[in-house]
Amino acid sequence: MNNSAPPAANVVDWTHNGDRVPLSLRWLRMECPCFSCRVEQTSERRWIPGRADDFVATSIDQSEGSIEIVWASGHVTKYSPAQLQASFEVVNRAKLDTHLWGGGDEPTRFDHDAVCAGGPDRMDFLAMLLSEGVAILTGTPSIPGQVEVTMAALGLPLRETFSERVHDVRVDPAGYNIAHTAEGLPPHSDYPSYTHPPSGQVLHMLENDCEGGDSLVVDGWQAASVLRETASHLFEMLISVPVGFRQYSSDRESFARQPIVRLDPSGGIIGFRYSNQLMQPIAPTDPDFEDWLDAYLALTDYLTNPANQRRFRLDGGDALFVHGHRVLHGRSQYIPNAARHLQDCYFDFDDVLATSDRLRGLARAKPVAAAS
Ligand SMILES: [Fe+2]
Ligand SMILES: [Zn+2]
Repeated sequence: MNNSAPPAANVVDWTHNGDRVPLSLRWLRMECPCFSCRVEQTSERRWIPGRADDFVATSIDQSEGSIEIVWASGHVTKYSPAQLQASFEVVNRAKLDTHLWGGGDEPTRFDHDAVCAGGPDRMDFLAMLLSEGVAILTGTPSIPGQVEVTMAALGLPLRETFSERVHDVRVDPAGYNIAHTAEGLPPHSDYPSYTHPPSGQVLHMLENDCEGGDSLVVDGWQAASVLRETASHLFEMLISVPVGFRQYSSDRESFARQPIVRLDPSGGIIGFRYSNQLMQPIAPTDPDFEDWLDAYLALTDYLTNPANQRRFRLDGGDALFVHGHRVLHGRSQYIPNAARHLQDCYFDFDDVLATSDRLRGLARAKPVAAAS
């Protein structure tokens, strides 16, 4: 049925999966898929909105899921059902489907070669990393520099920091932080001393023959969520009081001052930075200091409680992946009586989500053809 009518309202009703969806006229103009408004080769927007009559419709035709709108400017916008569907897929992208956890079993292990080969194993690995913020690859070749090869195979570009691109962690009397000793490392996130710390980290154990030195991870988002439910006034301190973090070496410096927990505009937890060893003093005269410290103590009590951690041993060939804005990592003290060598580097968690979307068919390689 062809239903042509002058626009009576500023929305067009569209049926999507059996549901009535009111589409804003202005939205329909903004997203016009035609190859005058978009560069055909890339689907990028060419049209720049701005003229007063850009959004004034003079007629609207709807037929079997398609929509055709003539605008006062003379421009014609046509949507096929497939193009409307594609716009809806974009709206639903970049949403993490997370499963928060408090303690539990060892992180799930995946075979390095199978994941690097792609296919369902790659999708399962990425899905686990997105959901739980932690996963392990086993059978990673114990070759220095391998972690860079593995990341290239996974299509995950490295994020560089002030230290080496691939960073060696072993006992080093000249090392600039506690990781270069045999001391235990309480749960922490790396480089909270950047305003935007690396959001992904991979720790590749090449060899681990020492006694002790078991690994642990803890879900910072779960810790913050528990505090939010049980002591909301303390949670408020974590999202509002900026804290300085500093990491430095003999010739490099990094320093950022940010709250420990970061929220998205709708209040969801999207960022967590925590490093007791790198934290700097806040002003003792800060009127929030006492309440903030209560929050920090409650948070630290949660994070350091073994009941809330997942503990395991990283053997040679294991590569631990963590969401750096969510899952904290640490290790127990070890006796440096044998070889222990780990290499780690950073990546951007956005690339994990985008790679997963592409494998799931949510990210289209080409634009949906314009309606004719
Ligand atoms: Fe670390
Ligand atoms: Zn157009």
